[in-house]
Amino acid sequence: MPDLVAHGLLAGLDEIAGTGRDHRAGGYSRHLWQGAELELRAWFTERAERMGLDVETDRNGNTWAWWGTPGPDAVVVGSHLDSVPGGGAYDGPLGVVSALDAVAGLQAAGFVPTRPCAVLVFAEEEGSRFGVACLGSRLLSGAIDADTARSLTDRTGITLAEAAATAGLNPAHLGRDQQALDRIGIFLELHVEQGRGLIDLGEPLAVASSILAHGRWRLSFTGQGNHAGATLMTDRRDPMVAAAHAIVSVQEAALASPGSRATVGRIEAVPGGTNVIPSAVHAWLDARAETDAQARAVVADITARVQAPHAGCSATVVEESWTSTVTFDPGLAARLALALGGIPALPTGAGHDAGVLASALPTAMLFVRNPTGISHSPEEFATLADCLAGVEALDTLLRELL
Ligand code: HGY
Ligand code: MN
Ligand code: MN
Repeated sequence: MPDLVAHGLLAGLDEIAGTGRDHRAGGYSRHLWQGAELELRAWFTERAERMGLDVETDRNGNTWAWWGTPGPDAVVVGSHLDSVPGGGAYDGPLGVVSALDAVAGLQAAGFVPTRPCAVLVFAEEEGSRFGVACLGSRLLSGAIDADTARSLTDRTGITLAEAAATAGLNPAHLGRDQQALDRIGIFLELHVEQGRGLIDLGEPLAVASSILAHGRWRLSFTGQGNHAGATLMTDRRDPMVAAAHAIVSVQEAALASPGSRATVGRIEAVPGGTNVIPSAVHAWLDARAETDAQARAVVADITARVQAPHAGCSATVVEESWTSTVTFDPGLAARLALALGGIPALPTGAGHDAGVLASALPTAMLFVRNPTGISHSPEEFATLADCLAGVEALDTLLRELL
């Protein structure tokens, strides 16, 4: 470990600490192909090239830094650099910085890999710009249809196809990339833990065992746009009132199905004026549960509650993305846990690119303790000691796998 520290371990987190700060929400807002995210990609490229890695962006916007000749049977380590609006400093970047540092440590130690190795940065993991989480890994693996992806729009109406073209990609080439997939022998993602599992266990690290089934739905309420002063309360069809009623029922439905989680974290009034009764309101639902059946049942319950007429408005529920329960390769997880001295295995409620790839190839995850237990918020945290333990663990695993 001391040799790794001597090589500027985790300095990358400091180098990017000023990029994409969100002074309104707090934390960071780093969204696909926009200012801060582009700066982070440039930072990644520069850092990887300084290490002698060959950097390439694939046709879905994911950036690879190769140590040695690209694949097949490569050990690929990575995560993402984009964030939720007002996100923490560790969700994504910790995995990228740790992967670079682990490779740098091996290089400094004169380690010679017998397999190709790459550090991979996935595009749009959070789905904060185009609404579908893990978009880069879904496109790469074909988990999302390319036409569906191309027509996704951001909040200003720009399509993914248009944004990809602006970013220098050919939108016609978005979609499953067999050649890129075929290069991956194993994918490994280190990530800050996003709950309290490691706090409760009193351990710094764990391997991932599973991810909850989860998805996103758009709830749309339509009423009658009108004047806030001139319209009697009894004459209104106000979709904001219908949405408020529905959001309370989202909480009721999740509470009625123990272990499930349902959240409305984003709402949009159309047209959105203080003195305007909206004509429509859109709200986005994120729902998760241990099994596909439970998640589907909760969403069916929510749909029934949301679509029950309220305030004279109509409502629709449209699925925007879905990910089945992920069980990480138990043999690989056990092997890695053993190589790390028998660290525990933990399930998670958070989605990850490693989870999307898990149905296509051997994948594993390492979680680093988060002493606040809070994530998708500026309070997300990891101590330097635990982060260093994470890099050391990656170093151990790369030595084992390469
Ligand atoms: O939303 C999620 O679970 C993840 O952080 N993308
Ligand atoms: Mn996240
Ligand atoms: Mn993440």
